[in-house]
Amino acid sequence: MSLFISLEGPDGSGKTMQLDLLETALRDAGYDVLRSREPGGTAISEKIRDLILDPANREMDPRTEAYLYAASRAQHVAQLIRPALAEGKIVLLDRFVDSSLIYQGLGRGLGIDEVAQLNSFATGGLLPDVTFMVYIDYEEGLRRKLSQANHTLDRLEAEESSFHRMVNLGYLELTGRYPERIRLIDGARDPRTVHEDILQQTLALLAENS
Ligand code: TYD
Repeated sequence: MSLFISLEGPDGSGKTMQLDLLETALRDAGYDVLRSREPGGTAISEKIRDLILDPANREMDPRTEAYLYAASRAQHVAQLIRPALAEGKIVLLDRFVDSSLIYQGLGRGLGIDEVAQLNSFATGGLLPDVTFMVYIDYEEGLRRKLSQANHTLDRLEAEESSFHRMVNLGYLELTGRYPERIRLIDGARDPRTVHEDILQQTLALLAENS
């Protein structure tokens, strides 16, 4: 039986570490897992990723950016995600459609509904069964990010703090918009506690669906 899970969260929320822990726990429990990330996941999608995140592409128009994320996602869904779900795997994604709704819809001001429509076309309407929104506030995320040695900023990370503040609030707004799918996770807690929370919710969903 398949299950599609995405993790979302602002920069510095620890969502990638949480994915590592969740992936390991599910594999140890004997589940067949496909772990991937966005933008990326396939050769074509990774090329699009490089184009999007390259700090040299300063002149990129917000609509171009939204289409590129959606194009990268379309290939990912067709080539990797749908086949894995058809094989009954658990698909774990580091970011999915919600990132576009927040960063392009709210952050770039293109509108959540407009970006949702574009993405619905790109994915054929596919959405995760559950999305864990690992949330921390802007100052805490920034503090964590700056404490990482040698971290160089990609084009999105290099945006002004007003952009990132809007993005952080966007995470909360989106959780209120899709309460049946998105689960808010307090990412300010100790990483082990956050992991136990996400793992128990995932195991409960697997038990429900089996
Ligand atoms: P990445 O290095 O994967 O960031 P993180 O480690 O924070 O997940 O870079 C992805 C960047 O792209 C990140 O700043 C969020 C942004 N993004 C969008 O703006 N729209 C999207 O649809 C996705 C998937 C990511």
